[in-house]
Amino acid sequence: MEKLMRKFFLFLSNNKFFTKIAKKYGFKMFASRFVAGETIEEAAEAIRELNKKGLVVTLDHLGEFVNDEKEARERTEQCIKAIRVIDEGNLESQLSLKMTSMGLDISRELVMENMRKILDAGQKHGVFVTIDMEDHARCEMTIEIFEELKQEYEGLGTVLQSYLYRTVDDLERLDKYDPNLRLVKGAYKESPEVAYPDKKDVDENFKNIIKIHLQNGNYTAVATHDDTMIDFTKEFVKEHDISNDQFEFQMLYGIRNELQEKLVKEGYTMRVYVPYGNDWFGYNMRRLAERPANVWFVLKGIFKK
Ligand code: FDA
Repeated sequence: MEKLMRKFFLFLSNNKFFTKIAKKYGFKMFASRFVAGETIEEAAEAIRELNKKGLVVTLDHLGEFVNDEKEARERTEQCIKAIRVIDEGNLESQLSLKMTSMGLDISRELVMENMRKILDAGQKHGVFVTIDMEDHARCEMTIEIFEELKQEYEGLGTVLQSYLYRTVDDLERLDKYDPNLRLVKGAYKESPEVAYPDKKDVDENFKNIIKIHLQNGNYTAVATHDDTMIDFTKEFVKEHDISNDQFEFQMLYGIRNELQEKLVKEGYTMRVYVPYGNDWFGYNMRRLAERPANVWFVLKGIFKK
């Protein structure tokens, strides 16, 4: 039953019809548990509250799979605005983005132009930018673009997913850039030809890539809500005398808030991924696919309003 629900939510996550309907009508009803608001002002307020508790942030203007050049340019401007708001508000926040929102599916030229605009702003305002990793079909392109831009911009990172067979090779390939990488299990529906179908293998590979990246001496963001992975990281850094400023934990906004604050109290850097905007449907459906029990929180949200 749980497997079926996962499949259903992943199907919904990139369904254009439902995304459109949701954008128009649904925020107050469905989105507010995992999304900080529809506007940058609401998001800034959420960041301020998190910063007060010692949590740092990476801010994400929601959006993906854009096929229209004008929209990709508008989304680029939204990212630049977010960077300015972070700097002007003295917020402890980085920026995360999805390149399909900046025109990755339209042309290489367009996405490079938009990315350079965002990274120029990031450099000017001292805001680090992470390129989220999307589905496997876009993984090689994302890594190639990261390699090119990383040579021009210091403050750039990306994400690798432990469910992909290729990830250990990618980690070694990127090592020469001393990259700051976010490591995750992976959130998209992938075929067994490219990704481990069994959770146990995904988890083993997650531990493996955490180990490799830390031992390569690179900054490592361990992005997970899984106690086993968090405990593994804590023990590994202790055993290998790796200092707390070579790694951080990351979790999504609205998920395991108590654990987030506990990690801060224990002296770890804890970064919260804060999404905002009206293109929240795909993002929320992936959260439900990860944990169908979250449906309950979403339903509670509806009845409270
Ligand atoms: P997983 O879902 O495997 O759960 C393992 C265990 O964790 C559960 O059994 C439970 O014990 C605990 N747990 C999980 N959720 C819980 C909850 N809500 N409440 C209580 N316990 C819970 N993916 C991607 O493909 N590209 C990307 O760029 C990113 N970026 C990203 C950034 C950040 C900051 C995070 C945290 C995650 C991502 N992801 C991502 C998503 C990631 O790939 C993955 O889908 C989710 O993090 C879910 O996997 P977990 O490692 O959290 O544990």
